[in-house]
Amino acid sequence: MKIDFLKNNIVEIINKSDSKESTLQAICDFLKQEIDYYDWVGFYFKNGNKEELKLAQYSGEETEHTIIPFGKGICGQVAVSNKNFVVQDVKEQDNYISCGWKVKSEIVIPIFKNDENIGQIDIDSHTANPFTENDERLLEFVCQEVSDFI
Ligand code: SME
Repeated sequence: MKIDFLKNNIVEIINKSDSKESTLQAICDFLKQEIDYYDWVGFYFKNGNKEELKLAQYSGEETEHTIIPFGKGICGQVAVSNKNFVVQDVKEQDNYISCGWKVKSEIVIPIFKNDENIGQIDIDSHTANPFTENDERLLEFVCQEVSDFI
């Protein structure tokens, strides 16, 4: 993974930002385009005062899972655990919400603002076992940058 190239481009996208929506969309599009095993890239954020996540911008196939209750699926679990969740094989997860038969693995990294878990970046992959430490470091960087600008 060309991690420095990817990080520098994320910073550039944020510096060129005109709106929150277009910037989050550009980040999704960029990551999906640059990393061949990223097949769906999206941001979920806490939905107001509700104990649920709401889908914001994404790149990839449309999903019916636009609202996810806290605790449900990989995303909902990260909303309560505040921890990265790396799933190398979705078949091994009981508490998993499928977004299509092609998805084999998933990674979800929380976004913190003022020590509060406000949302997350979610990546689905059609490849099994694709993620390394570099994915976690890159996506933690993306989440920190997003937190600073939103
Ligand atoms: N698979 C996720 C649901 C969201 S989709 O991946 C877009 C989960 O288990 O929470």
